[in-house]
Amino acid sequence: MSEPKPSVTDAGVATLRPPPRHVAIIMDGNGRWAKARGLPRAMGHKEGVEALRRAVEASRDLGLSHLSVYAFSTENWNRPQQEIDALFDLLRLFVKRDLARLHRDGVRIRIIGSRDGLNEDILGLIDEAMNLTKANTKLTLNIAFNYGGRGEIVAAVKQIVEAVQAGRLNPTEIDEAMISRMIWTADSPDPDLVIRTSGELRLSNFLLWSGAYAELMFMDLWWPDFNKESLEKAIDAFRRRDRRFGGLGS
Ligand code: FPP
Repeated sequence: MSEPKPSVTDAGVATLRPPPRHVAIIMDGNGRWAKARGLPRAMGHKEGVEALRRAVEASRDLGLSHLSVYAFSTENWNRPQQEIDALFDLLRLFVKRDLARLHRDGVRIRIIGSRDGLNEDILGLIDEAMNLTKANTKLTLNIAFNYGGRGEIVAAVKQIVEAVQAGRLNPTEIDEAMISRMIWTADSPDPDLVIRTSGELRLSNFLLWSGAYAELMFMDLWWPDFNKESLEKAIDAFRRRDRRFGGLGS
């Protein structure tokens, strides 16, 4: 049995992988950050938005083309109404306060997830942010809001079944590439790296389809403490990992 070749150049220097193009982040630990300071959970989420601003800026500086963040999962509807309201208010505030600057900085905003159950005003803000920034090319920011990875796959399956029933699609044509074109993140490359802060070791229904081959990184800090250095560290560790996509490597 042949050994996979180590990633080492002739000179004996470890070969670094290219940097990730698309980083996705499960922004976890806002509540614990707040609790540790005797503050209400909503304050943790507010600080979480500051960390998000830093992450967007750092992503641009570090040359990422796509950043995806998990801001509100379909499971988050199970939280107390007060906390749900606080998260919705933060999305409103984020779009209202940051949209013009993000647009100026060349950020394309995509809000991914289900529209079901969202108020008209939120849907209006989502459409405004996506329409205004749709031609920007510096960085795509996917904000997963009312998002669930299984729901994303179900929505794609429904579209496919409708197309088959309408006679527009032959079932033999259904393949992985077709599903990739129908999921909510269809216009982003698959994430290379998924980071979760707060030390929890779960995907929690995030990017289940597109993240199939992503490197996973679990960082031992609460999301409000995340900064440019944290992202640099994650990218650096990613570049040192050996990636084989199920093969034996180069
Ligand atoms: C998980 O922390 C975080 C969330 C459920 C929400 C993440 C949201 C933000 C960072 C701000 C929202 C940003 C926008 C643009 C709407 P947790 O509450 O589960 O923390 P815990 O596990 O410590 O309790």
